[in-house]
Amino acid sequence: MSSSHHNNFSFSSMAITLVLAFAILFVSPSVSTSRTLLDHPDAKTGFQVTLKHVDHGGQLPPKLELLQRAMTRGRKRIERLHSMALASSDATIEAPVHAEHGDFQMDLAIGTPPENYSAILDTGSDLIWTQCQPCKDCYPQSTPIFDPSDSFTFSNVSCASDVCKALPEPSCNANSNCEYEYAYGGGAFTRGVMATETFTFGNVSVPDIAFGCGNDNEGYFDNAAGIVGMGRGELSLVSQLNEPKFSYCLPSFGSTKTSTLLIGSQANYQINETTPMIRNPKIPSFYYLSLEGITIGDKLLPIDPSNFALGKNGSGGMIIDSGTTFTYLEHTAFDIVKNELIKQIKLPVVDLRETGLDLCFNITSVGPDFKVPKFVFHFEGADLELPRENYIIADSSGTVACFTMASSHGMSLFGNVQQQNILVIYDLAKETISFVPTQCDKL
Ligand SMILES: *[C@@H]1O[C@H](CO)[C@@H](O)[C@H](O)[C@H]1NC(C)=O
Ligand SMILES: *[C@@H]1O[C@H](CO)[C@@H](O)[C@H](O)[C@H]1NC(C)=O
Ligand SMILES: *[C@@H]1O[C@H](CO)[C@@H](O)[C@H](O)[C@H]1NC(C)=O
Ligand SMILES: *[C@@H]1O[C@H](CO)[C@@H](O)[C@H](O)[C@H]1NC(C)=O
Ligand SMILES: *[C@@H]1O[C@H](CO)[C@@H](O)[C@H](O)[C@H]1NC(C)=O
Ligand SMILES: *[C@@H]1O[C@H](CO)[C@@H](O)[C@H](O)[C@H]1NC(C)=O
Repeated sequence: MSSSHHNNFSFSSMAITLVLAFAILFVSPSVSTSRTLLDHPDAKTGFQVTLKHVDHGGQLPPKLELLQRAMTRGRKRIERLHSMALASSDATIEAPVHAEHGDFQMDLAIGTPPENYSAILDTGSDLIWTQCQPCKDCYPQSTPIFDPSDSFTFSNVSCASDVCKALPEPSCNANSNCEYEYAYGGGAFTRGVMATETFTFGNVSVPDIAFGCGNDNEGYFDNAAGIVGMGRGELSLVSQLNEPKFSYCLPSFGSTKTSTLLIGSQANYQINETTPMIRNPKIPSFYYLSLEGITIGDKLLPIDPSNFALGKNGSGGMIIDSGTTFTYLEHTAFDIVKNELIKQIKLPVVDLRETGLDLCFNITSVGPDFKVPKFVFHFEGADLELPRENYIIADSSGTVACFTMASSHGMSLFGNVQQQNILVIYDLAKETISFVPTQCDKL
């Protein structure tokens, strides 16, 4: 199979220069508030926080219906990520987030005394932010909006600080305080002042975390009070804590069970297989995986590995992203996967493409427990056999079942449906990622 990328993005030397400038910015010396979490007396073992679906506690729509809604949003996200990877001259280098059904939130608290809130966990972006008073424009959230004047530990950040310089689009207000603007896909953004605060994760409080105090916020963040960026850039939570490891385990899609994010030495597990964490100099914030092949049933598919390789121009490759629902495979590879599934599952194909799902089967004759072939991703150094529910989901009436991956042009993405019930361990020091199949709600 020859790799054929079709993309519509223009590429100019001016764009290259701009992106290189950002890349340099992002590898500049670490922010002044950087510290090792373990320096903190209460934090000898790192910490853990609860993770839950955005829908937790509410009425959950049936799984497949829920996923269909996520599809359109996921497509917009990957288009945008790809255009960033191709060095567009767009100054915002962060990933968009779609915070509706299908995303995961973490529980944390801000300020002194601490105010509890929930934020979206996003490995595809860096900034930590929450909606703040005084609100110029805030969307509804499930907890009271944070008011800095109620906290003893809130501090403004000066324009001259390294935190301010690490922002993609800093500006300076009349009081020489740093202001930020951070745009996501689909018109979503947050704007406000950069500040530092004490954040509480589980039973551990950490002072002086740099965050965006957003007075003007717009987008589909559902009821989340903000985002916790877990990317590789210096403003992300893991970078600020200077912790070498973190892990999460996402519970079943559509379940009301919660799970855990571990940061620090609590994320130490006995691991047998690891795969390298690749870096794309064009988007240093993203975690890239090295995917080498796919097996369905007993068949190793004839996919040219160049379909998954990261190109010198920043195109291609596969990122792992907790903020996108589905997995997207480069179209040439996706078509091979799709044809093999049709061949092995041997059920009538139903055209539901208008819903955004590329491959669905009519299961009325066999029921929802029909036999599906195993699905294995061969990452460099680690094979991952997906649990069945991570790639085939039946609708609530039991008449159709769909394959929960989709086709993309220009890059591939490992989404959160495919990460359910897998402990995902990021070793930032060794630059490896590991996958350990786990019942996440039992962890
Ligand atoms: C905040 O969250 C913690 C831990 O989840 C809980 O023990 C505490 O009661 C919560 N506080 C409020 C005011 O809800
Ligand atoms: C932060 O700066 C704003 C003005 O930009 C000011 O009103 C506020 O009092 C400052 N907060 C602190 C804690 O210094
Ligand atoms: C904090 O929580 C962790 C696990 O949740 C526990 O192991 C540790 O003992 C707790 N520390 C304190 C001081 O309560
Ligand atoms: C690692 O390998 C050992 C021995 O082969 C096995 O007992 C253990 O379950 C494996 N651990 C994981 C996390 O796969
Ligand atoms: C980027 O490189 C790939 C080969 O690695 C090529 O197929 C693609 O057309 C290139 N894209 C651009 C926009 O130059
Ligand atoms: C599925 O197949 C049955 C016959 O076995 C048919 O009656 C039904 O209309 C089909 N459903 C869809 C969605 O195509």
